[in-house]
Amino acid sequence: MKAIILSGGKGTRLRPLTYTGAKQLVPVANKPILWYGIEAIAATGITDIGIIISPETGAEVKAKTGDGDHFGANITYILQESPAGLAHAVKIARPFLGDSPFVMYLGDNLIQNELGEFLNHFKTEQMDSLILLRPVANPSAFGVAQVDDQGRVVQLVEKPKVPASNLALVGIYFFANTIHASIDRIQPSARGELEITDAIQDLINQQKHVEARQIEGWWLDTGKKDDLLEANQIILDTCLKTEISGELDAKSQTFGRVQIGTGSKLINCTVRGPVVIGNDCHLENCFIGPYSSIADQVTLVDVDLEHSVILKGAQVIGIHQRIVDSVIGQRAHLKTAPQRPKALRFMIGDDSQIELA
Ligand code: TTP
Repeated sequence: MKAIILSGGKGTRLRPLTYTGAKQLVPVANKPILWYGIEAIAATGITDIGIIISPETGAEVKAKTGDGDHFGANITYILQESPAGLAHAVKIARPFLGDSPFVMYLGDNLIQNELGEFLNHFKTEQMDSLILLRPVANPSAFGVAQVDDQGRVVQLVEKPKVPASNLALVGIYFFANTIHASIDRIQPSARGELEITDAIQDLINQQKHVEARQIEGWWLDTGKKDDLLEANQIILDTCLKTEISGELDAKSQTFGRVQIGTGSKLINCTVRGPVVIGNDCHLENCFIGPYSSIADQVTLVDVDLEHSVILKGAQVIGIHQRIVDSVIGQRAHLKTAPQRPKALRFMIGDDSQIELA
């Protein structure tokens, strides 16, 4: 059994962060989203993992994630020249996959359930494909499945205008080698992509064994800002352990589960967990509220922050209003200017979003 994780794509919905970096490397609770997927796969005992990368962000994904040693796995990087669809990614991974059955995992997805039980079910029933589903409120935004009483998949439609059910495809799939013939048979969709839903529908049309299982726990697709903040909240809620390696002065205090990395200094700060603060940060006169993740080398002075993600090297200084539900990119500077006339001055990257009170 092998695995592929898709870490290419355009990431348009997470601009401007994705102009300069891979969306799969955006941290959730200070760990790249992609790494949760690698860990979930490695936990099932699968060690041969292929990661699909794009020409734009592949080098960064490779440099950060390495050869897999860190995860007890063996990682092979597979370059996809353009984001031509999920089934296209499987197609170009064929030399890596050979005829092995495999798990396909979208690199910006997270699920609470462990993969082991699904993998065992897929193997013992000798299926051609097992897909995971979750009920959603807005099925038209997803790939949607129609399933019979036995759990067999009858039909799959990508972003249907009139959905046949509220069961959305979670970005984790199990395939036998029969998927390759189906991918060879399908044509690009109206949006010009080779769709994995079309390939699975082809398996169904060929009377192959395609089953679905509903996942019970949470599923997070971190492709958009609010989803990213929700993922951050859930991971901090469920996984964070208290560990304070940095220095707090006598006027600083923490409540609840708080992690503070080495080399970080807190002066006159109150931190109410769950909160994670990385290494080598400087925080002064701050209130850091629940569900905040602050990456390494961040400077925060006179800041009141809650439910936000601050990326590496960002500086936020002297903002005298509470910052909530925010994502602040790497090395971004946000501060009140000391000079007169009192005015707002911006240098904001393309596609940035700012809401002033
Ligand atoms: P999507 O989120 O569907 O696509 P995207 O990354 O292009 O994002 P956006 O819609 O914001 O522009 O992709 C799901 C995952 O699969 C994501 O981790 C990117 C990856 N992917 C590939 O690796 N190759 C591809 O051809 C496509 C379409 C996606």
